[in-house]
Amino acid sequence: MKTTAIVPAAGSGVRLGEATPKQWLEVAGRPLVVHTLERLAACGAVDRIVLVVDDPGRAEAVLGGFDLPKLGPIVPGGVRRQDSVRAGLAAARDADLVAVHDAARPLVTPDLVARVIEVAVRTGAAVAALRVEDTIKRGDEAGLVRQTIDRSGLWRVQTPQVFRTQWLVEAYARADQEDLAVTDDAGLVEAAGFAVTLVPGEAINFKVTTPEDLALARRLLAGSVRVGHGYDVHRLAEGRRLVLGGVEIPFERGLLGHSDADVMTHAVCDAVLGACGAGDLGRHFPDTDERWQGADSLDLLARVKDIAVDRGCRPIQVDVTLMAEAPRIGPYVEQMKANLGRVLGLPPGEVSVKATTTEGLGIIGRGQGMAALAVVVCREES
Ligand code: CTP
Ligand code: MG
Repeated sequence: MKTTAIVPAAGSGVRLGEATPKQWLEVAGRPLVVHTLERLAACGAVDRIVLVVDDPGRAEAVLGGFDLPKLGPIVPGGVRRQDSVRAGLAAARDADLVAVHDAARPLVTPDLVARVIEVAVRTGAAVAALRVEDTIKRGDEAGLVRQTIDRSGLWRVQTPQVFRTQWLVEAYARADQEDLAVTDDAGLVEAAGFAVTLVPGEAINFKVTTPEDLALARRLLAGSVRVGHGYDVHRLAEGRRLVLGGVEIPFERGLLGHSDADVMTHAVCDAVLGACGAGDLGRHFPDTDERWQGADSLDLLARVKDIAVDRGCRPIQVDVTLMAEAPRIGPYVEQMKANLGRVLGLPPGEVSVKATTTEGLGIIGRGQGMAALAVVVCREES
């Protein structure tokens, strides 16, 4: 039994009101439609995906950068949704079943797709749908209630909608003859006289239609947050440069270390590594390795960021505190923030640099060294 998914993605998103159609908006680092395609592909029962878009050439260029192994033909759509699905259907006729799923439902789960397909294998036509739980009223243009509707037996229909390919082909042929207009494919299949089975859908599989939906989808697709903590200490010595947050500061002594001993940047590095569970700076850049002799710590931070991003963990905020008796770093703070932000790819508002003395107490108070503490927040990319 071969199943091809048809993904209509040729709408213009009028109700959302963005200049770019919603399916191409970037959400959690990828175009919305990529999330949808990835989730459909993650369903073992889907063999191939036909994508219907406004401009196939441009879509191919955008999607080329993503790993979408089941993606097959990309075909041009039509004016109405049903015209787009018809175009997709023409490229899916060799399949036993077709599973139509809106590009604008990026939170569909592979499990739901599998369940709807499973029912359609038995019945020939199945759609994901939710029972109406709220009371339903009909209102007029002025916002006055005209009627309270009995909600028993009412369902809100979603996609995926899965059909025997032959049934959907027949339903579309009939729709053309009779000039039927519908907002879902099951509507045509019903009109052609086939029985359609309702399969319990999922609330999270909502369609991105309004700005509120988009905000919710962004939050749900953003993944969870991870936090890392870093701490570092370096001894002060004569004849060394003092480099903090990538800024060289005129001072009578500098920090001692294998690299440039930028204690502030090292604390940030360890916090990033901590957030993604990748150990510490010493493990990745051991001081026994000549390559890191005199290294620019901002360069080490860039490498650390790459390690984190490879692990699906992207820094989104950093807060660092320097502990030093002298000098005052106030005049250099903006430059330090700019350096750390540039390397981590963060806007200035997401980088905080501050300093404290230890009131003359301890090794730092006696001016024997400096320490730094950092906290980094990372976003886990889905
Ligand atoms: N769609 C399509 N071709 C059309 C219209 C819609 O492929 N001519 C697709 C949309 O891209 C979307 C799905 O059908 O993935 C559901 O449609 P809808 O939510 O109505 O999207 P839009 O038509 O883009 O939005 P709007 O109605 O607000 O303009
Ligand atoms: Mg529409």
